[in-house]
Amino acid sequence: MKTIKVGIIGSGGIAGAHAAAYRKLPFVEIVAVADIIPGRAAQFIEKHGLTDTQPFDHPDELLKLELDGVSICTPNASHCRTSVDALRAGKHVLLEKPMSVTLQEGLEMVAAAETSGRMLSIGFQPRYDPNMKLLQRIVQSGRLGDVYYVETGGGRRRGMPGGTFIRKDLAGAGAMADIGCYSLDMALNTMGYPRPVAVSAFTTNHFGRNPLYHQEAHQFEVEDFGAAMVRFENDMVLQFKISWAMHMDSLGATMFLGTDAGLKVLPHGTGPWSGVWDGKIGAMTLFHDEFGGHTATEVPLIGHNLNLFDEKVRDFAEAVRDNRPAPIPGDEIVIQQAIIDGILRSAESKREVSVELPADVKATAANAPQDLAM
Ligand SMILES: NC(=O)c1ccc[n+]([C@@H]2O[C@H](COP(=O)([O-])OP(=O)(O)OC[C@H]3O[C@@H](n4cnc5c(N)ncnc54)[C@H](O)[C@@H]3O)[C@@H](O)[C@H]2O)c1
Repeated sequence: MKTIKVGIIGSGGIAGAHAAAYRKLPFVEIVAVADIIPGRAAQFIEKHGLTDTQPFDHPDELLKLELDGVSICTPNASHCRTSVDALRAGKHVLLEKPMSVTLQEGLEMVAAAETSGRMLSIGFQPRYDPNMKLLQRIVQSGRLGDVYYVETGGGRRRGMPGGTFIRKDLAGAGAMADIGCYSLDMALNTMGYPRPVAVSAFTTNHFGRNPLYHQEAHQFEVEDFGAAMVRFENDMVLQFKISWAMHMDSLGATMFLGTDAGLKVLPHGTGPWSGVWDGKIGAMTLFHDEFGGHTATEVPLIGHNLNLFDEKVRDFAEAVRDNRPAPIPGDEIVIQQAIIDGILRSAESKREVSVELPADVKATAANAPQDLAM
């Protein structure tokens, strides 16, 4: 069996899920782990019982090794630099979400992948939910007619992270990037990643900055709520809202309004950290007219026991081993990065801003390879 060697850069919370997923794959060897906090990579290796794995206190040292791929599990603001360095060092990259903070960074990363001939795959594990694939199949089948309006987002009543997630220099952005990227990927992937042209957005952080609600309020520098209207080249609009905290139970369903039918989608799970599309789909209902009557059809969901996180790591590792293209390519996700960048610029300037994507960024990713099989 062909084996591959991988490294993990950043050994905090989510790196553990990468290590656990790689360890389930007999053809993968975790050769090294790096973290910029001295000693942290070594602690991680010990904690996860990784025998024969080398620790490094800087990613540059890890990148000197002969590795086939790396998982990048560092805070958002370092995603660009770390990915570009890894790609230039000849490593395939599985990068944790969100892709980056700004559009410029995203474009730099895509260019580095192209020139290095290595893949840049972004870690959106919900894509591996068979019901996410079903959603995409329903919309792309044309059953809804022309989709002219999409509403999505997620609302946690109370679910604000702390630490590296709330510092602007490390996270770059708050709820918008942290959980908003999941909603955006769900809606845009379903629609074949149309090109955005303009964004009008509002963000705020009434909860994060209030010591009543957050223990680290004094250093809370990002947004805990955002809302945006995004216009696309194909004359579709997307209404997007996201909250880490609010005085409300939910921000509503995700919906696709088409000329022939509408589709309502509910997230899976309950509780303070749920409702943000980072996992499975809860329910799907198709609204349509039959024989002149208003009809609602519950779409039967596909039962499964997949660990979506393991699936994403496995798909990346197999793509490296089998020389396949990136499962969730950076040159597709850069389109949602353009939206996040537009949201941040619009919220700052309190004006609608235009989104300028270079012409060579895919017009739509609908023709990108998609595994719609179930
Ligand atoms: N897909 C998911 O379900 C999921 C879940 C949680 C977090 N994430 C993403 O994973 C990333 C990391 O999140 P986390 O919860 O593990 O954060 P964390 O703060 O727990 O860990 C980040 C680690 O990276 C290290 N680090 C920082 N800069 C570095 C650099 N340049 N090189 C090497 N190490 C560096 C830090 O010292 C820290 O140990 C974030 O981008 C986050 O959005 C994804």
